[in-house]
Parts: sequence; C-alpha cells; structure tokens
Amino acid sequence: MATRRRPPGPNGLPILGNTHQFARDQFGFAERLAAAYDDIAYYEVLGRPFYQLNDPDAIERVLVHNNENYVKGDFVQGLLRPIVGGGLLTSEGETWRGQRRRLQPSFTPDRVRGYADAMVDATEQKLAEWDDGEVTDVHEDMMEVTLAIIADTMFGMTVDEEVETVGAALETAMRQTEKVWEGFIPKRVPTPGRRRYRRAIDALNEVVYRIIRARKADPSDDVVTALLEGEDDVDDEQLRDQVMTILLAGHETTALALTFTLHLLARHPDIAGRLRAELDEIDGTPTATDVLGAPYLDRVITESMRLYPPVHTINREATEPDTLAGYEIPAGATVTMSQWAIHRDDRFYDDPRTFDPDRWADGLRERLPDFAYFPFGGGPRRCIGDRFALLEAKLVLATVLPRYEFDLVGPAEFDLLASITARPADPVEMRVRER
Ligand code: HEM
Repeated sequence: MATRRRPPGPNGLPILGNTHQFARDQFGFAERLAAAYDDIAYYEVLGRPFYQLNDPDAIERVLVHNNENYVKGDFVQGLLRPIVGGGLLTSEGETWRGQRRRLQPSFTPDRVRGYADAMVDATEQKLAEWDDGEVTDVHEDMMEVTLAIIADTMFGMTVDEEVETVGAALETAMRQTEKVWEGFIPKRVPTPGRRRYRRAIDALNEVVYRIIRARKADPSDDVVTALLEGEDDVDDEQLRDQVMTILLAGHETTALALTFTLHLLARHPDIAGRLRAELDEIDGTPTATDVLGAPYLDRVITESMRLYPPVHTINREATEPDTLAGYEIPAGATVTMSQWAIHRDDRFYDDPRTFDPDRWADGLRERLPDFAYFPFGGGPRRCIGDRFALLEAKLVLATVLPRYEFDLVGPAEFDLLASITARPADPVEMRVRER
C-alpha cells in the first residue's frame, strides 16, 4: 500500500494551529479526533506537529515492535524533567536500561506481595481519622494513603509530617504542567505560576533529600540502597531524580485510580453492593491472596481504569521516519496515544460511557486488540509498578469498603484537568458513613 503524507485532521488557525481547541478540553479533543479520523489524525499545538494514533496496531508498533525508533522526546521531557529530573520515567538508552535493571528486583511478584501488610496498615491509619458521617476530600485522603505506602515500602520511611507539604507541592507542580498557553511565553519569563512552581519543586526536593540522607546513614533492604549498589558514581542529584520519580510515579496515579473507583461506586450503588458482598467474604485483614483471587474486584478496577485512565496519554518522538497506519511519520514528529480516547471508542467497547464491570466477565480482554486497553502503557517502558499498583488498589478497597459507605456530596461528573495525569479539578467530597 502506498504511504500517504499528511493524515487528515481538524482545521487550525494561523500560528495557533489547534492550540485553542486542545487547551480548552484535551480529553474531548482526543475523543473527537478518534471519532472523526479513525486510525490516525494530525494537529498542531504551539507550532508543534502531533500525530494522534487511534489504531491499536499502530500503538503497538510504537511501544513494542519498533520501540527503538521512539524516544520520550522534547515534549515529554519538557513536562517531566523539571519535576522528576533524569530518573526512570525520563531517561533513555543505556542509562534507562541500567536504572530499570537495578529497580526491577523491587517489583518482582514476590516482593510486591511482601508489601501487602504495609498497604493495609497505611489504609487503616487513614480510616482511624474518619468520623462517622463526616464529609471528606477522598482524593486528598487517597493521596495521603498512597504516599505513606510508597514511602514505607520503597524507602522504609514514614512521612507523616511531610504528607501535607508533598501534597500541596505536587498539586502546584501538576497544575503548572496543565497550562498549555504558558508555552507561548518564553521560558525565562518568571510568571507567577512559574514562581509558585519553583517553590513547589524546592519543597519536594527537601523531602527527597531527607529520605536520601536517612537511607545513606542507615542502609537497608530498600530502593535507595538498590540504586547505590554496584555504582561508584551515583551523585546525589541522580539519586534525587530516582527517588523523586518513584515517589511521584508511585503514588499519584494509584491515588487517582482509587478516587475514580470510589466515585464510580458511589454513583452505582448496585455495583458497590455486589463488590461489598464479595469483600465481606474475606475473613479478617485482607491479604494479597484474598484480593488477587477476588474476580469482581478485578473487574471493577479494570473498568474504572478504562473509563478514567490515570495516565490519559502517552507521547513519543520519532527519531527516524516511520510509517504508521499508512502514513509517513517524519523524524522529530510527536506521536500521541490517548488511553482516554481509545478506552472510550465504540469500535472496541459497547456503550463505552457506561460503567459496567461485567463487560470484562467473558473474556473481553482476550478478544480485544492488545492496545485497545493500556492503562499501564506497554513494551519495554511499560509501567514498572503495574503489579504494585493493582495489589495496592485492591487492598485499599478491600480494607475500606467493608467498613464504610460513601455518599456523593458534589457533582456526579468530574471536571478533570489534563496535566501529566488526569486529575480532578476540584476536591472530590464524599460523606463517609460507618456500615
Ligand atoms: C494505577 C496506577 C498506575 C498507572 C495507571 C501507571 C501508568 C503508567 C504508564 C502508562 C507508564 C508508561 C509511560 C510511558 O510509556 O510513557 C508508567 C511508567 C512508569 N511507572 Fe507507572 N503507573 C501506575 C503506578 C505506578 C507505581 C505504583 C509505580 C512505582 C511504585 C510506578 C512507577 C512507574 C515508573 C518508574 C515508570 C517508568 C518506567 C520506565 O520507563 O521504564 N507506576 N506508568
């Protein structure tokens, strides 16, 4: 088949391209592109050409079969480097390979199961703070729980005092990444947003350096020690980047998955009832074996991450020209793959906007093309924490749901911000009632 040059796409304005459409609503924009242009669509934001892939096979080519040709690139680096520096999320080539190899032993199935007690303990601590009938911001609560879990399991640390600092700083930093329009202002101009951002990064750095100092003074079986092992030349800045990467990548995403799931369950009492019936069967404190063997719990989380994938888009930059979905992709082009749009595409899912865990009951996963469902990405750079995240989400739900009911207080739909992750724009308030 002949390769064509420029895929179809929405009309843009001179200079602005499609920036205004993109900035207004990234989620709706990605969905519209998938609906209107099928396998691949072209658009421009801030003068940069983007190719959105809506074809699971083309996504598989980028992430798996031809992954050597694709790097995270300027666009991703510009978003992530200021926060996480050069850790596993952003590194490339040999540096990435070495980092991944050193971290992998902390994420084997056995190691992950060994974190179960810490996951349940952190959840219990949060529950002890809830008063029957109080209204609480569930997103903030889940951020605290997952931060406590990642600090404990990965760094052997408690972060009680720092939870608020990290939460507030992360909020500021992530909000800045969502400000598409500031891309038009030269980087050297210190806008108020950029100054707040700088202060947020400083606050995060303080916490990270405290973790590093503590681990160096008292080495143990933790990730910092694993990173230092066999390396003579890891300086504190590299270590800071690695720790920051794990700290952020390892807690914000799972907190979002939990927040979205609790919100969906509050909106669907029948589904919540079925899930509670399954979880009520668990005797005493939930274990890894209990939750990994709970089929409805698995379907609920799978379906929640379909509708609300915490990482809503993966981007890559082509280093050499390639052909995707029949079109020529020039070197330097940014390719975007939107979990949000693909997971809501009626070519793959019946009634895609409906929260229906049972759609996964009879082997849908096997029938779907591999990259029609990819909340954790794929290929060599697939999420290193996927197993960790699923066990954690299941244990938190299995600890919370048998003890509490959740009533919606705010609106039934989220207003979401498209920063690096999909985050609720407002507090997610719910009334918690003891059962
Ligand atoms: C529901 C929770 C999570 C979701 C949805 C998620 C999603 C993702 C996705 C989509 C990627 C690939 C990004 C890309 O290809 O550009 C990724 C990478 C990564 N994730 Fe996760 N993640 C989650 C939880 C975690 C946890 C718990 C950890 C650590 C404990 C973690 C650490 C990482 C790291 C370090 C990478 C970079 C891997 C590499 O490039 O080699 N994530 N994650």
